Amino acid sequence: MSQDLGGKTALVTAAGQGIGRASALAYKRAGARVIATDINAAAVESLAAEGIETRLLDVLSDQAVKDAAAEIGPVDILFNCAGVVHGGTVLETSDEDLAFAWDLNVRAMVRTARAFLPGMLSRGGGAIVNMASVASSVKGVPNRFAYSVTKAAVIGLTKSIAADYVAQGVRCNAICPGTVESPSLQERMRAGGDYEAARAAFIARQPMGRLGTPEEIADLAVYLAGASYTTGQAYVIDGGWTA
Ligand SMILES: NC(=O)c1ccc[n+]([C@@H]2O[C@H](COP(=O)([O-])OP(=O)(O)OC[C@H]3O[C@@H](n4cnc5c(N)ncnc54)[C@H](O)[C@@H]3O)[C@@H](O)[C@H]2O)c1
Repeated sequence: MSQDLGGKTALVTAAGQGIGRASALAYKRAGARVIATDINAAAVESLAAEGIETRLLDVLSDQAVKDAAAEIGPVDILFNCAGVVHGGTVLETSDEDLAFAWDLNVRAMVRTARAFLPGMLSRGGGAIVNMASVASSVKGVPNRFAYSVTKAAVIGLTKSIAADYVAQGVRCNAICPGTVESPSLQERMRAGGDYEAARAAFIARQPMGRLGTPEEIADLAVYLAGASYTTGQAYVIDGGWTA
């Protein structure tokens, strides 16, 4: 992808590892000023060596998100990457897990939109990129009830913001990855006790015969930050899983 994000400021949530980290680095390579945020101080601060500004930010906190927006000022690009995966069917998912997934996967994007949209509007535009998943309204995936419910809501939230602000220059799109090699996926594969079997099962459902990489998803995050004629879309990037 060859977006030139020179002169733009990009804020990334959950940039300490995985797709968020790869995207912060990709925005930097595309020329943007990047503010990488996470709750994991050591992980996010290691990006400073790449010329990226770093900041602790817990997107579960209304106040922390408001404070960040007040201190940072307007940004051109907001990549809402923070999210959590719970296993379980509708019968197995607790209300607590569902509420937590709602808070981190959906409410956090409401918080950041409320905090950073006014700055985008004051400058005549901006780009919001929201992390959804194919496990959402795109595809039913077994054992992912809380995750799929909340990631489907991310797509609705994305379309709503896009429709409301398209005339004011703000674009809002969602990314829907398949299975991506990331630290939390590694944890999920180890959690069941048979890492190799879990890995083989994840790969077996990918028609390309491999998992995606965070860098492949970051390419799309960069594209959507600069792509001037698209808004309100859910971009599937899943190695052919839903082909
Ligand atoms: N890995 C996949 O297969 C995959 C597939 C589809 C979608 N996604 C989505 O991509 C996003 C990133 O996932 P990943 O697997 O690349 O990364 P990950 O799960 O390995 O890392 C998540 C990061 O989020 C941070 N974080 C957790 N709680 C936070 C909070 N309250 N505030 C700020 N940061 C917080 C963690 O410290 C960590 O650095 C998530 O929204 C996930 O649902 C991942």
